[in-house]
Amino acid sequence: MIAEDRARALLEAHLGGGSRVLHSETVARLMGALARDLGEDARLWTLVGLLHDLDDRETASDRTRHGVLAAEWLRDDLPPEGREAIAAHDHRTGRRATTRLAACLRLCDAFAIAAEEVPAQVLAVASASDLRAALPARPYLADMILALCVEQGFDRARLAAAHG
Ligand SMILES: [Fe+2]
Ligand SMILES: [Fe+2]
Repeated sequence: MIAEDRARALLEAHLGGGSRVLHSETVARLMGALARDLGEDARLWTLVGLLHDLDDRETASDRTRHGVLAAEWLRDDLPPEGREAIAAHDHRTGRRATTRLAACLRLCDAFAIAAEEVPAQVLAVASASDLRAALPARPYLADMILALCVEQGFDRARLAAAHG
């Protein structure tokens, strides 16, 4: 498995100077926290969070390839379940999140994006309708967060606490 410092160097090389690095660090932190709660491999989950948007620039004109390309690049760096989660993190690829790792990556990604517009403490407690109203440009993020929390048995407050 890829070392964390090499993963960070890859991130810098592909996304350096962009807000996506900060977003990737946030998703990595959330993934690590969930993995520890669940008794999963926190190192793997953190790396998956860190690298999930690695191909952001290269797939800007074709989001059906977003994540899929990164998973190909990481063929020798992550185990299959990690690459599959990255390949399936964006709904526009048409891929489904079929593992807990993949579902949690979607959840952490959606939460991190939503938290750029709405304070995490509000995301933790807002009603479904308030959450949609608070995210007018992307109400589907509210639906994703709510549905995935139910599916995976998580309290939104746990994500908010890990987000900080
Ligand atoms: Fe993405
Ligand atoms: Fe992302």
